[in-house]
Amino acid sequence: MISTGFERVRLTPKTLPELDFERIDTSLTLFNKKLAAPIVISSMTGGTASGAAFNRTLALAAEQCGIAMGVGSQRAAIENPELSETFNIRKFAPSALLFANLGAVQLNYGYGIDECKKAVDMLQADALYLHLNPLQEALQPEGNHDFSGLLPKIEQVCRSLPVPVLVKEVGWGIDLNTAKQLLGVGVAGIDVAGAGGTSWAKVEMHRQPDNKKTATNLAFENWGIPTAKNLLQLRELEGDPLIIASGGLWDGVDLAKSLALGAKLGGFARKFLLAANRGETELINQIETIKTELQTAMFGCGVSKLSEWKISNLEGIELL
Ligand SMILES: Cc1cc2nc3c(=O)[nH]c(=O)nc-3n(C[C@H](O)[C@H](O)[C@H](O)COP(=O)(O)O)c2cc1C
Repeated sequence: MISTGFERVRLTPKTLPELDFERIDTSLTLFNKKLAAPIVISSMTGGTASGAAFNRTLALAAEQCGIAMGVGSQRAAIENPELSETFNIRKFAPSALLFANLGAVQLNYGYGIDECKKAVDMLQADALYLHLNPLQEALQPEGNHDFSGLLPKIEQVCRSLPVPVLVKEVGWGIDLNTAKQLLGVGVAGIDVAGAGGTSWAKVEMHRQPDNKKTATNLAFENWGIPTAKNLLQLRELEGDPLIIASGGLWDGVDLAKSLALGAKLGGFARKFLLAANRGETELINQIETIKTELQTAMFGCGVSKLSEWKISNLEGIELL
């Protein structure tokens, strides 16, 4: 099984941190929103009654804990406006940083700036995530397979949408060249969603009983760029772009390593999905635990605020 690579790097302890634990600052401001910690609940759901309840739980927790949140693909609600209420989470999270979500490939299937605006308006989002998921679409029998000519269309959305546009993968990572191209056309941030966490090859395999497809999905079990490696690769990008780490992040130590590798924010999907299934209190506890773990890692490394994280806080990056 492919791993994130985080287990191959270690944080470098600073035995005399010269810091007061209580005064360590994990806050940041992003897109004019203040966050208590650099954490985002990664894009997951909406569009059904259970999705609405789930989004409510996530949004209430995001608001209480002062973190960011993305919703899952809003395509169902664009096609059936009655479902838009399942994404209307602003009422539960009035001050949180919220991300709308659509598949970039939809820009080849009749979607344009109007649909992107509708998605943003549905939750009064602060930014839009376009997800790039070519392999997932290829493994889905009903998937949209035409990913040609998308870059100029993404550029058009970046130019016309009143809020920033970010691009994310869904669990296989974003290669350096693609990241350069995306940032070159005005994308405001890259969420790597690298390999080592949720495996869509496996998820799709369970969705389709057909044996031939199962074998194909198994062949892609180890596909993708491990998250830690992907972050290291994207350090080559010029101009200090916004990079979000996600894909298999599991605790505040993974988050700290991501920040040392250059990310500004870390996203968790499966971890928060499991906690949210046990209720809002459990999810809040989980988020607070990750915050405390990050604060503890900062204390242990002598890092007093997020901007102080640097690559030299890590040992073993040559293994990535
Ligand atoms: C149940 C579930 C639903 C998801 N739905 C979406 C989606 O609609 N849009 C999207 O961009 N990513 C979606 N993702 C991908 C996540 O946002 C994330 O990139 C990926 O799961 C890797 O994070 P993880 O390893 O922490 O789960 C989904 C993930 C899960 C677990």
